[in-house]
Amino acid sequence: MLISETMNARLNDQINFEQYSAHTYLGMAVALESMGLRVLADYFFKHAEEEREHAMKMIKYVLDVGGKVTMKAIAEPGGDWSSAENIAKQTLDHELEVTRRINDLVALAEQEKDYATRSFLQWYVDEQVEEVSSAEYLLSLIKAAGPQQMLGVEHRVAQMLG
Ligand SMILES: [Fe+2]
Ligand SMILES: [Fe+2]
Repeated sequence: MLISETMNARLNDQINFEQYSAHTYLGMAVALESMGLRVLADYFFKHAEEEREHAMKMIKYVLDVGGKVTMKAIAEPGGDWSSAENIAKQTLDHELEVTRRINDLVALAEQEKDYATRSFLQWYVDEQVEEVSSAEYLLSLIKAAGPQQMLGVEHRVAQMLG
């Protein structure tokens, strides 16, 4: 095995957290759909898929380096999903938390002189720059529009989805 037992365990934790992210965004998508915000719902359905890909990419890496992948229970996502603004705020908080966790993994890789994992994690470091930036943009759009102008937000997000 090319990685330490500790790194193997921490990567399994992150795989679980990516799955939890997918679970969270799926829940948010359903909540947005029930508000009649179909385009925003699609944006979150898509985001959930991406989180699953993040988990898959890490699963493949752990297997590549001869580690052991363990499947733990995915926590029940929570929070107040009663408005698009609350959902956008929690998305930003969530992405900041993911960023902290990725940074902790990078710090561990450097401490262990595990340069293979350090290199692998760079993709996640770069991805989090995008993720935090889009979450901030979405929150600012929703705040600027206000609850009465959500159709304008839907229109803008539809353009972003292409
Ligand atoms: Fe992710
Ligand atoms: Fe994310």
